Order: sequence, then C-alpha cells, then structure tokens
Amino acid sequence: MKKSRLLLSFLCAVPLCLLNVWSGGFQTHTAVSPITISSWSNGGRNVTILLWFWPFGRSMSLKGDVCWDLYSIPRCRLVDQRSLFPEADVVVFHNRELVQGRQKLPFNLSRPQGQRWAWMSLEAPVPEGNLSQFAHFFNMTITYRRDADVTVPYGEVLPKVDEGVEDFPQNKSALVCWVISNYRSQHKRSQVYRNLSETISVKVYGRWTKKHLTSRALIPTISRCYFYLAFENSDSKDYITEKLWRNAYQGGAVPVVLGPGVDDYKAVAPPKSFIHVDEFASVKELGEYLQQLAEDKKRYREYFRWKHEWRVKLYTDWRERLCRICSQYDSLPSHRVYPDLEAWVNAVST
Ligand SMILES: *[C@@H]1O[C@H](CO)[C@@H](O)[C@H](O)[C@H]1NC(C)=O
Ligand SMILES: *[C@@H]1O[C@H](CO)[C@@H](O)[C@H](O)[C@H]1NC(C)=O
Ligand SMILES: *[C@@H]1O[C@H](CO)[C@@H](O)[C@H](O)[C@H]1NC(C)=O
Ligand SMILES: *[C@@H]1O[C@H](CO)[C@@H](O)[C@H](O)[C@H]1NC(C)=O
Ligand SMILES: *[C@@H]1O[C@H](CO)[C@@H](O)[C@H](O)[C@H]1NC(C)=O
Repeated sequence: MKKSRLLLSFLCAVPLCLLNVWSGGFQTHTAVSPITISSWSNGGRNVTILLWFWPFGRSMSLKGDVCWDLYSIPRCRLVDQRSLFPEADVVVFHNRELVQGRQKLPFNLSRPQGQRWAWMSLEAPVPEGNLSQFAHFFNMTITYRRDADVTVPYGEVLPKVDEGVEDFPQNKSALVCWVISNYRSQHKRSQVYRNLSETISVKVYGRWTKKHLTSRALIPTISRCYFYLAFENSDSKDYITEKLWRNAYQGGAVPVVLGPGVDDYKAVAPPKSFIHVDEFASVKELGEYLQQLAEDKKRYREYFRWKHEWRVKLYTDWRERLCRICSQYDSLPSHRVYPDLEAWVNAVST
C-alpha cells in the first residue's frame, strides 16, 4: 500500500508541478522547471495542516485522505480539530473573522517549535480591516497574490493536453455586457461604464438594474455578448477574480478588464485573451476599438486563439487551496515572520 502510494505520488509529480510552478510570469509557465523528487517527499512524513476555523463559518468534509483523494497531493493531512494543535505543522487563520474580532489567535497555547501560523485571505484588502494588531505573529501568507508564500488564485491557465478544437463563440446579440450588483457612482469602474456607454451600447444586468441573473443564467447570458466587462471592485495587486477566469473565459466573451494594472494581468493570463481599459488613452477610444473588433470577424477571432493551447482551471474549494500548502511546504523559507502584515497586505499594484 505504502509503496504504491509512493509510486503514484512520483507519477503525479509532473502534472502537479505544472500546477505549482506558477508564480513566475506568463511566459515562463510554458517551461516546467526541473523538480526533484525530494522536494515532493515532505521529508518522508505527513504534513499536518490545521484549519483553526472555517472561512465564513461554512465547513466541509475532511473525511478520508482529502488531499490525496480529491487532488492527488500526497502526505498531506488536513484537519480542523483544535485538539491537534500540538501536532500541526501549519495552523491556518482566515482573515475575515480575525479582523472582525469573531475569532482569535490562540495565544493561550504554546506554539510548538517549527510550527507556522498562516494568514489566509482571498478578498481584496479593505480600508476598515486594520491588520496592525497582527504584526509579528504570522509566518506565512496564503492569498491570490503571486508573491504570497502559497499563491491561491481564483483561476489559472494550464497547457491543454488534447488538441481539441475550441468552439468559436457564435450567436452574439449584444456588443458589451456588464453584470453589477453593488453600483457606486464614484467607483472608477462606474465612471468607465458611464463614459463607455456614451460611445457604444452596454447591456447591464444584476441587482443594480433589477435585471437579476440566476447563477445558471449567468454564463449563457455572457456568451451572447461580444465583450464582457470584467471590472474588479478593487485595484489591489494581483486581485483578479472569477469575473475573468469563469464569467468571461467560460462565457466565451472577450473580457474587458479593469482592476490591477496591465502587467498583473499579463503575468497570469494568455496574451491576446483580454483587453485592459488602461491600454487606451481614453474610454472613447476603447469604445471605438470594441465596435470595430466586433465588426471584423477575423480580428475578433484572434482573441480566442489562446484556447487552442490553454485551458482554464478554476479554484473554488477551500480544501484544494489548503492542500496546496503541502505541495509547497518544502520550499517555504525555514524561518519567516511578517513584522508588518498591514503593510504587506496593502502593497500597491505595480
Ligand atoms: C485557547 O483559546 C482558544 C480560543 O482562542 C480556545 O478555543 C481554547 O479552548 C483555549 N485553550 C486553552 C487550553 O485554554
Ligand atoms: C490601525 O490600528 C492601530 C492601533 O492598533 C493604529 O495605530 C493605526 O493608526 C491603525 N491604522 C489604520 C490605517 O487605521
Ligand atoms: C441564439 O440565441 C438566441 C437568443 O438570443 C437563442 O434563442 C437561440 O437558441 C440561440 N441559438 C443557438 C444556436 O445557440
Ligand atoms: C469620463 O469622462 C469625463 C468627461 O469626459 C472625464 O472627465 C473623466 O475623466 C472620464 N473618466 C474615465 C474614468 O474615463
Ligand atoms: C513564526 O513566527 C514566530 C513569531 O510570531 C517566531 O517566533 C517563529 O520562529 C516563526 N517560525 C517560523 C518557522 O518561521
């Protein structure tokens, strides 16, 4: 049993490393860096990850060997029983509940030698979330940022294995679509929308216009649009959410993006798979460009060429994100403390 698992874990190392050598910028992703088996061995023992409380209070089953059974990540023990604190190699704390004061760090327990405390968040930093009270406590960060110790993006592209022919999206009935629930007129994305709709027609869905879309209707609706406004609600470094990875890419509409800077998108998304608002001198020019592109089938089609080589993988399950800690465990710095988490979290997009 043990032997066959070892063999399997060896076989899994190559596809897994595709998943994990992800931080280097889009161009480098195509080349798989050499990986030694020892870096997958976790020193030959299980790594125990203790989740101190579930994000947003929604727990999931951890029965069986979750990381192996669901994600083929070997020797990774994911637990949520606090009594296992003394055995845990990594204890994970989700940011939201900490900043809201609904959960506390276990200062009453003595931290075993070598145990790491991990700060985890998938949300963009919010001004009211003051993290200065957490200075000097955390040894690692788990978030969507490329410079986190464990990067857990909302999605990523992986090389396509089979050369399946990608359907070119047909049957478009709207030029530009936007789905917005929380409209604030002072947000930059709202200004861009208003200016854009002076040049071209933008179809708006969501709570704001009382044209609510059910989750089942979302992707089919987007698929009928040439362009989808994947506007993030924050311009925080690397904050690129399912608006790009799922809504636009799966919907087969070309994403027009706004959020972090162009370089952050270029680092993770395939070339010619998106259009960034900042690439245009004015929103009017952007509008004219979109109009022309929709009228020119050949040029429009170029924005789907990447789908021949790449497929999108979405991350939606906290367990998968937590299991990824094990894949990267051996490359974590042996000693690290975040002396000023507040400053790290609020670092600006470059
Ligand atoms: C330590 O504090 C945590 C909450 O922060 C609590 O769940 C746990 O029971 C406490 N343990 C002891 C030994 O006091
Ligand atoms: C955060 O809280 C600390 C005190 O805990 C305070 O000194 C600091 O000014 C606050 N920072 C912000 C940005 O509110
Ligand atoms: C095209 O879209 C319309 C609605 O806009 C829909 O009724 C029709 O079934 C679609 N046709 C195809 C081939 O998807
Ligand atoms: C929108 O247009 C107004 C008026 O032309 C301009 O002042 C403003 O800077 C534009 N905003 C954006 C985000 O393009
Ligand atoms: C983790 O951080 C604490 C300070 O909060 C420090 O004492 C400890 O040495 C660090 N451990 C590692 C493995 O970096």
